[in-house]
Amino acid sequence: MTTLQDYLRAAGCEAGLQELIELIARQAGPIREAFITHQSYAGSENVYGEQQAAMDTWADERIIGAARDSGLVRELSSEEQEEVLTFAGAKQDYAIVMDPMDGSSLIQTNLAVGTIIGIFGNGSVRQKGRNLKAALYMLYGPMTTLTLTIGKGVQIFAMDHEGVYRLLEADVRMPEGTLYGTGGKRPEWTAPHTTFIETIEKEGAKVRYTGSYVADFHQILKYGGIYCYPALKDRPKGKLRLMYEAVPVGFIAEQAGGAITDGTRNLLDVEPDDPHQRTPIYVGSAGMIRTVKEIFGRTHA
Ligand code: F6P
Ligand code: MN
Repeated sequence: MTTLQDYLRAAGCEAGLQELIELIARQAGPIREAFITHQSYAGSENVYGEQQAAMDTWADERIIGAARDSGLVRELSSEEQEEVLTFAGAKQDYAIVMDPMDGSSLIQTNLAVGTIIGIFGNGSVRQKGRNLKAALYMLYGPMTTLTLTIGKGVQIFAMDHEGVYRLLEADVRMPEGTLYGTGGKRPEWTAPHTTFIETIEKEGAKVRYTGSYVADFHQILKYGGIYCYPALKDRPKGKLRLMYEAVPVGFIAEQAGGAITDGTRNLLDVEPDDPHQRTPIYVGSAGMIRTVKEIFGRTHA
């Protein structure tokens, strides 16, 4: 059975990146154990004025500590940290963008949540997603899985009881499919989004949406379809974040044959103005994204 280490070595991953990916992957065990002791809210708010679950801050601090101590990471930008962190003593030049605990409002309901990570190579988090060297997410479901790309396709690993990641699925391809999930209340949707949803519903699309982006995306990766968090009438930039949520997952989607857009632009080509900026997101099967772009091209908001 191929382990994560075997895969990275065989794929010719550079040594520092391999070390960093394995280090991040090792955080899943302690994070999983902490769920039972960190069920409540932390009593603090993040940069967006959202309540931080105790697990948001716990996972954030855990990964930041590991990245800082590794000497591999020069910059780190987290959804939970107002400022970009700089680790001056770093010996290597990796830069991390992350959502340490995506879907955290679901922790108390025991639905799947995850950690999303993007890794850049030249010391800065202020880059377009296309420059990512690697992207991964760990999904804490019935299994703990690691979905990874180093720009050579997408591999899914599962963690065993000893904390070893074993290859579960190699070279994952996202099929065309009919599942969809969309955020936002229907009266708040814009005209192109409404037209898109009505179009795919007429073609037989079926809703599946938990409210955990990373889990909802994983289902789309496996079965095909689309995850959307659209621009809303009172929230023109949508809810999700370009660098922490869109870009790493978009890189994985593209590497599996899917795509990501805000309706008109490929989100991997957007130069960020602000590490915390939000963006509308459509991510999923190539055919679904073609339909989104075609509708946005002819429907005014
Ligand atoms: O991180 C933001 C997030 O929690 C996503 O994981 C999720 O898809 C979305 O927000 C859910 O938002 P809403 O409750 O508005 O559907
Ligand atoms: Mn999130």
